[in-house]
Amino acid sequence: MKKCVALLVSASLCACAQETSKSGEVPVVEEDSLSFDGADYADEAGKLAHGERVASMMGCRGCHGAELQGGQTGVGVTFDAPNLSLLLPDYSEIELEKALRGGVARDGRALWSIMPSAMYSNLSPADYEALVAYVRSFPPGGEAQPAFDPASMKRIASLDVIKKAPAEVMHARESGGPLSLGNATAKGRYIATTSCTECHGAQLEGFEGFSPNLDIAGSIERGKLERLLTDGTGISRPDLGLMSVMGKFRFSQLTEAEREALVDYLLARADANTQ
Ligand code: HEC
Ligand code: HEC
Repeated sequence: MKKCVALLVSASLCACAQETSKSGEVPVVEEDSLSFDGADYADEAGKLAHGERVASMMGCRGCHGAELQGGQTGVGVTFDAPNLSLLLPDYSEIELEKALRGGVARDGRALWSIMPSAMYSNLSPADYEALVAYVRSFPPGGEAQPAFDPASMKRIASLDVIKKAPAEVMHARESGGPLSLGNATAKGRYIATTSCTECHGAQLEGFEGFSPNLDIAGSIERGKLERLLTDGTGISRPDLGLMSVMGKFRFSQLTEAEREALVDYLLARADANTQ
C-alpha cells in the first residue's frame, strides 16, 4: 500500500513512503529533502567528513564504540552493542538500509528500538549516504559481542520505551512527525526529527517518566537552550545525566546555523502548542 506523509514540512517535500513491514521495507525520502549543513559535498573526502559529523550527531560511536567494535555501553544503564566493524562487511547496501532505516537486521531479526532506526529513517539521502560511507570506512577488529538483552534496560524498559524497531519506524511515519510549521522553520524541524525524536518521541511529545515534551523549550531562555545544545549544561539542573551527555557529545557538533534553526523551530513549536 502506498501512502504519503508530510514528512519534511511543505507539501512539495512530501515523502511517499511504502508501508514499512516486518521485512524492513524502507520509506523513501525524496532527493530534494533538507539535510545537515555540508551535505553538498563535492568529492569522496568531503562525503566522509560530512558522514563523520552526521555519525557523531546520530551517536553511532557513542553506542557501538569509538572503533565501531561494540561492547558494553550506555549512560546510567549499560547494555551490549554489536561489533559493527565485523558485521558491516557482510551487509549489502540494501541490507544496511533495511537495518538503519527499517529496523531489521541482515539475518531478518527485528531489532530492538534501542537501535534508533525510526529516527534514522528520516535522514535525507545525502546525509544517509555520507553516514554509510563513513561507518563502512572502519576496518574489522575486536570480538563479536553478545546479543542485546532488553532485560539489561530494566529502568527504561519498564517504562515501555524499548520496543521493536520496525513498529517504531511505522509509528514515526504514521504520526506525521513533529508539528510542521512551514518553510521558515523547516530546517530546524529536520534537525529535531533526526536528532531529538529518539528520546523525546516521534512528535517530540516526550515519554512520561523519562523525557519532557519539548514544549518545555517555550519556558527556557534562548541562550540557555543554545548552551544545553552546546555543552550539555541543563536548565532545571546543571547535570541532566543522559541529556547532558547528548549535549556535550552529539549536539556540540551542530553548526551555529543548525543550532539556531533548531532553537527557532523548538520555540515556534512550543508557541503553537501552548497558545
Ligand atoms: C542508543 C544506542 C545505539 C545507537 C545510537 C546506534 N545503535 Fe546500532 N544498535 C544498537 C544496539 C543495542 C543494537 C542491537 C539491537 C538488537 O540486536 O536488537 C544495534 C544494532 C545495529 C545494527 C544491526 C547489527 C546486526 O546485528 O546485524 C546495525 C547495522 C547498527 N546498529 C548500526 C548503527 C549505526 C550506523 C548507527 C548510527 C547511525 C547506530 N547503529 C546507532 C545500539 C545503538
Ligand atoms: C539519548 C536521549 C536523548 C536525546 C537524543 C535527546 N534528549 Fe533531551 N532529554 C533527555 C532526557 C532523558 C531528558 C530529561 C533529563 C532529566 O530531567 O533528567 C531530556 C531533557 C531535555 C530538556 C529539558 C532540560 C532541562 O533542563 O530540564 C530539553 C530542553 C531537551 N531535552 C532538549 C532536547 C533536544 C532539543 C534534543 C535534540 C537536539 C534532545 N533533547 C535529544 C534525553 C534525550
